[in-house]
Amino acid sequence: MPPLALVTGAAHRLGKAFALTLARLGYDILLHYHTSTDEALQTRLEIESLSRRVFPTQADLTQPAGVQSLLAQLEAILQSSSFALEVLVNSAAFMPAGSVDSLTLEHWDAVLDLNLRAPFLLAQACAKKMTDGGLIVNITDVGAQKSWSRYPSYTVSKAALESLTRVLARALAPQIRVNAIAPGFVLPSDVVTTGEWQRLIERIPLKRPARSEEITSALEFLIQNQYITGQTIVVDGGYSLV
Ligand SMILES: NC(=O)c1ccc[n+]([C@@H]2O[C@H](COP(=O)([O-])OP(=O)(O)OC[C@H]3O[C@@H](n4cnc5c(N)ncnc54)[C@H](OP(=O)(O)O)[C@@H]3O)[C@@H](O)[C@H]2O)c1
Repeated sequence: MPPLALVTGAAHRLGKAFALTLARLGYDILLHYHTSTDEALQTRLEIESLSRRVFPTQADLTQPAGVQSLLAQLEAILQSSSFALEVLVNSAAFMPAGSVDSLTLEHWDAVLDLNLRAPFLLAQACAKKMTDGGLIVNITDVGAQKSWSRYPSYTVSKAALESLTRVLARALAPQIRVNAIAPGFVLPSDVVTTGEWQRLIERIPLKRPARSEEITSALEFLIQNQYITGQTIVVDGGYSLV
């Protein structure tokens, strides 16, 4: 059966890099996106040029109904063709800046719903559809180990996602492995100013941001080494040391 991988937030940036890596490894891709329709269609073309099938699917994963519609699409794909769901990469995330004194309930819920609840709901459902040897990879952040006071909800969501990774790894073994990849600084987000980014890069012991392929190679490693579960691979140029 052809192997299928579901990657969330895969239209562009790191999520796209994960999807292309999996396509190069021979997986067909259920490519989730939210608002980046044009980028998703461009990524679709790039995956198809690798002779892989790709199913772009729009969903708002802050909403339980959005998660359910993505899962319904997954079910339809699995039923219409004889795919084997082998990999889930939870990459979609939201990182708004907001200090503790200004954080609203709406903001807190949106971040936790996307960064933590959606990965849980997707892992819970995908685990039931995966055959033995399935792999779930949660994309966290070196910030999970830090106390970034400008990003309280994001930092807490990623720390909790690493905890969830360990809980799921234990619960789903031995059939399914669950791991996390914690990138350091790769691509600046809109909320980070150029000056802030430069200051962050200066603090990294290896003095440069990661290249996308240095993050995706951790995914390849987790696919190849089938004796790792419940771990977080930190790919941060040494930032967690400072
Ligand atoms: N970039 C870095 O340097 C870095 C560093 C450490 C960790 N990470 C982690 O790596 C992952 C990818 O990072 P990135 O910077 O490439 O991603 P990103 O640009 O911050 O966003 C990831 C994706 O999340 C999706 N998304 C946002 N709101 C959503 C919603 N309501 N429902 C569903 N999807 C939604 C977006 O989809 P649409 O664009 O389609 O709306 C976007 O493509 C994230 O988990 C991030 O926390 C990134």
